[in-house]
Amino acid sequence: SMRRRLVIGNWKMNGNRAENQQLLSDLVNLQKVGGAGADDGTKGADVELAVCAPFPYLPQVADALKGTGITWGAQDASEHAKGAYTGEVSVAMLAEFGCSWALVGHSERRAYHGETSDVVARKAAAVIQGGLTPVVCVGETQAEREAGDTLKIIDEQLAPVLALGADAVKNMVLAYEPVWAIGTGLTASPEQAQEVHAHIRKLLAAAGAPEQRVLYGGSVKAANATSLFAKEDIDGALVGGASLVATDFQGIADA
Ligand code: G3H
Repeated sequence: SMRRRLVIGNWKMNGNRAENQQLLSDLVNLQKVGGAGADDGTKGADVELAVCAPFPYLPQVADALKGTGITWGAQDASEHAKGAYTGEVSVAMLAEFGCSWALVGHSERRAYHGETSDVVARKAAAVIQGGLTPVVCVGETQAEREAGDTLKIIDEQLAPVLALGADAVKNMVLAYEPVWAIGTGLTASPEQAQEVHAHIRKLLAAAGAPEQRVLYGGSVKAANATSLFAKEDIDGALVGGASLVATDFQGIADA
């Protein structure tokens, strides 16, 4: 496949200045001692690495990662360009801090902040409009899986996103994160994940963008990454807990 591997760390609401500094410098050092092509900090063309940090730490992350080959982004973005939206952060603001990415529609945003799939689609459009790449997250709950509704839920969550059209979708990364696997230590089996990834690939193809990357997220660790990444339609990972420990995150990148 032409799809370059991508591993994105989602720090969620963790860290502080001191811990971040340590984590970032450990990550940069691990990249330097890594494999072929490590002089530019990217370990060659094998895998692209990124971290999504809390908003206030984006300048710190930018300072630490500038020129290293590791890119960075935010965990959310406003659908609006500017104005009376207290507490929101616009894509233009993220661009000022060198962000390449913004997660949209993470299950924690959907569950705790009432984000509907229509809101998620508008956020994805705003992110693209602002020149960043949205990482659009989808995934079913345990109850939905047990009811046999997994693929239907994925269809519903992606419908307004894919309706943005091929030009938009060609600027997206998708992430499949089964809610029951997030932060639970209970990862989807490679076969369970591949089934959904293949379905998403089919939807992407129908939307005119078959080669977009589809990441898996949900308790990814170095120990389970190899078997997940061996699957045809799994192009990398969106990593929560394991992205907070440099050696764990690097272990996933190495896989
Ligand atoms: O965005 C990351 C996912 O929610 C996965 O989190 O690796 O801690 O399970 P986790």
